[in-house]
Amino acid sequence: MKTKNKLNKMSSIDYAFQNYNEYSSPALTVMMRMSNAFQEALSKARTLDSSTITIADYGSSECLNSMLFIKHALTPFRETSQQPILIYHNDLPTNSWSKAFKTILEHQDSYINLPNVYFSSVGRTFFEQILPDNSVTIGISSISFHFLSEDLSAPDHVLASSSNDLEFKEKAAKFAHDDLINLLELRYKELVDHGTLILQFAGETMDFGQYLQDANERLYEKGIVTEEEKTSLSAASYGRTTEEVQRALDQEREKFRVLYFNKEKVPMFTGKSEKHIEIFTGMSKMVVGFQLQKTIKRTEEERNEILKQYVDEMKDLFEAKDQQLFTDLYIVALEKISRDK
Ligand SMILES: C[S@@+](CC[C@H](N)C(=O)[O-])C[C@H]1O[C@@H](n2cnc3c(N)ncnc32)[C@H](O)[C@@H]1O
Repeated sequence: MKTKNKLNKMSSIDYAFQNYNEYSSPALTVMMRMSNAFQEALSKARTLDSSTITIADYGSSECLNSMLFIKHALTPFRETSQQPILIYHNDLPTNSWSKAFKTILEHQDSYINLPNVYFSSVGRTFFEQILPDNSVTIGISSISFHFLSEDLSAPDHVLASSSNDLEFKEKAAKFAHDDLINLLELRYKELVDHGTLILQFAGETMDFGQYLQDANERLYEKGIVTEEEKTSLSAASYGRTTEEVQRALDQEREKFRVLYFNKEKVPMFTGKSEKHIEIFTGMSKMVVGFQLQKTIKRTEEERNEILKQYVDEMKDLFEAKDQQLFTDLYIVALEKISRDK
């Protein structure tokens, strides 16, 4: 058993974004950054034994972005190959799956309009094995693997990775390392030999987390939330440093060959517009609203009022910073090393 004592933890098993598709356009731009790595993985997939190319998409949410990304990638592939494609979308059991299915089946730009493409869903945490051994040709995950298996609330910051409490920080770093190793080991089992795993996840700069931190302090100073409510709020994710990611990859070097490794500070919005403010506000309401259900034990009406104040503060911060929302993003592409090499 892992030792994760002395950390203020909460289960994130009930985590699910509501209305994700409505506010997910910045995440689509980010997801498209995995296109080159995905095209290379598809080319390699042709040379592997299995006739069906199985794609697993970890942390798909309501599937709009995954569907558009995969459609974009499969369209040129379909001009030269009719290999069957089976796509598994994965997210938590609480995800809006009916909305995801409706999106895939009814969207005019869906991959389902391409021949010989099938899909299914797996509503189960990706911290467990979710598909059989040696069954996945290409695994992808966009903006999801920085979520931890449990929310860690630092005494001084909503982002566990930004805490200045040295004792907490050390334990959180170990927790995040164990989680990443677990994710890699599970995906290793699921991948076919020489299959590709393409991951995009956040690093230590997460402006969204910092805005939430600043809003949290302001609401506490105004007497709107108590000290306990302020301290227990968590952004539910951990921004790993390059050294932390590399240490995990190093530990897994017998299992994965690194095909590509890149980290960039990416603006989630470019240019100022009313639409960006609307999207940022919607994202804030969605993410913070969910977290407040865990930390604000008051009437629903009071909680909704407090949520409104968080969102207003975050919107002010976003506007004051010229509508910037920078996030460190890693793209890591890995090839499974076959057991018999
Ligand atoms: C920011 S969204 C990314 C959605 C989509 N991949 C995209 O790029 O637009 C992160 C998703 O990860 C999911 N997630 C977080 N922890 C998870 C877990 N343990 N198992 C499965 N999905 C998880 C969340 O529910 C959420 O839908």
